[in-house]
Amino acid sequence: MPNLPAQFITLDGIDGAGKSTNLAFIRQWFERHGLPVLFTREPGGTPVGEALRGLLLDPDTQVGLRTETLLMFAARQQHLDDVILPALKKGIHVVSDRFSDATFAYQGGGRGVPLDDIAALEQWVQQGFHPDLTLLLDVPLEVSMSRIEQSREKDRFEQEQAAFFTRVRATYLQRAQAAPQRYALIDSHRDLAAVKADIEAALDRHFGL
Ligand SMILES: Nc1ncnc2c1ncn2[C@@H]1O[C@H](COP(=O)(O)OP(=O)(O)OP(=O)(O)O)[C@@H](O)[C@H]1O
Ligand SMILES: [Mg+2]
Repeated sequence: MPNLPAQFITLDGIDGAGKSTNLAFIRQWFERHGLPVLFTREPGGTPVGEALRGLLLDPDTQVGLRTETLLMFAARQQHLDDVILPALKKGIHVVSDRFSDATFAYQGGGRGVPLDDIAALEQWVQQGFHPDLTLLLDVPLEVSMSRIEQSREKDRFEQEQAAFFTRVRATYLQRAQAAPQRYALIDSHRDLAAVKADIEAALDRHFGL
């Protein structure tokens, strides 16, 4: 295996795309290859980030769209400083369930915050740091909606209407199209074995295996 520095891999996509479900396959892949890895999530990953997550996902929270965007980046800054960057510096790969792509998709595409404003915050917080690979799980809107309906209680974002998720999904897909070398687009409207095979192939490719 080529001696790559520790990699930052993110898993993103609309609600119900299967991010949390497929984390298990990613975990198995890293175990199989004996690579050290840390799993984390956004918003969250630190005590302050998890507290902000609680606020952000709580259907009772009333918050403006600019505040919501800033809180996402506040959580992200702490996550980068305390968890992601220290792990990578120690040679530990990091896999995050959601990252900045979600802010572009939800606050940008979904809520209408100008994408340039989000890019400016991204630059301020990340200073040019980006995921090395983003596994973008994609499902048609109806599939996302029906999976959300069948799962747990809906969070603040999941209570949005179909038009919101249509814009979120379109923004994810536009981002993947604009930088195809960073994204692996995974059709997760298939049985889990097929999704797993695609995820493993994307990881093999990324790590040159
Ligand atoms: N390929 C699949 N086929 C059928 N059902 C699936 C598939 N992938 C995930 N699911 C189901 O869809 C539901 C949502 O999956 P999961 O929680 O992994 O999505 P998620 O992307 O993490 O969503 P969220 O953004 O809300 O956290 C779960 O009930 C899961 O079992
Ligand atoms: Mg999830």
